[in-house]
Amino acid sequence: MQTIRQLTQLREAVAAWRAEQLRVALVPTMGALHDGHMALVEAARRNADRVVVSIFVNPRQFGAGEDLDHYPRREQADSRMLTDAGVDLLWLPDAETMYPAGFDSSIHVGTVSEGYEGANRPGHFDGVATVVAKLFNQVSPDLALFGEKDYQQLAVIRKMVIDLDFMIDIIGVPTQREDDGLALSSRNIYLVDEDRQAAVALPRALGIAARDIARGGDVPAALAQARETLEKAGFDVDYVEIVKESTLEPHDPEAPSRLIAAAKIAGTRLIDNIVVEPG
Ligand code: PAJ
Repeated sequence: MQTIRQLTQLREAVAAWRAEQLRVALVPTMGALHDGHMALVEAARRNADRVVVSIFVNPRQFGAGEDLDHYPRREQADSRMLTDAGVDLLWLPDAETMYPAGFDSSIHVGTVSEGYEGANRPGHFDGVATVVAKLFNQVSPDLALFGEKDYQQLAVIRKMVIDLDFMIDIIGVPTQREDDGLALSSRNIYLVDEDRQAAVALPRALGIAARDIARGGDVPAALAQARETLEKAGFDVDYVEIVKESTLEPHDPEAPSRLIAAAKIAGTRLIDNIVVEPG
């Protein structure tokens, strides 16, 4: 695996592949890699000839008081995992390469970025869209892979790609979970034993609500029940909602739906989502 920190070198490496008509995939990450990220890498390998993984802890998507300074950084372990997984190129820009002095642009994707995570984390999706647009222009991949774990992020990226004419296929990869159902996340390391055990209430409550709704149960009652279960488990709930699949528009009982939720336990904010299988 090549590890590259300079933009000119990155462009040369990708141009050489292009000249050979090879299909290039990009997996953007913030590092502290786990099996969720590796599922994206595997999907990338299945769908492309060459795989680029980027690691950049993007300051612009962290709000004041969020965990930018504490965000786990594990470059060596990450690099080993990516080598073992057969990744071709690790793109490791530093903050100065990504945001040189005087950098003064931002991408705002409209409505799809404004509710839920967008409402709870002002500026977050502008930071995500801006860095992902830069990564797309730096790497110029044919396809890019994102996890369904961050469901709204995936929807924001899809919308940006359509609206701004990026010629990049976006592939969504299903959420990878621990054996008990908790979605894998770099932030799970913040959870100590007791909170880690309580955290499983999040996927469980969503699973129960999704089944109730799929069987024709009352939607507001199912959402209220999920919220109550989470509160009893010690969560401070930001939202539990049902939305239209893919676009996160308001729920339409005739259209495919997803349950999405965000809640804090012992100061750690977790998000999750689950499909509502049509009955
Ligand atoms: P990060 O949190 O490192 O996640 C990188 C990618 O891995 C995202 O597409 C995310 O959805 C996916 N991912 C994380 N946990 C997953 C899981 N349990 N199952 C499946 N996929 C999972 O998301 C970001 O970084 C950043 O916002 C980024 C897109 C890199 C822009 O800075």
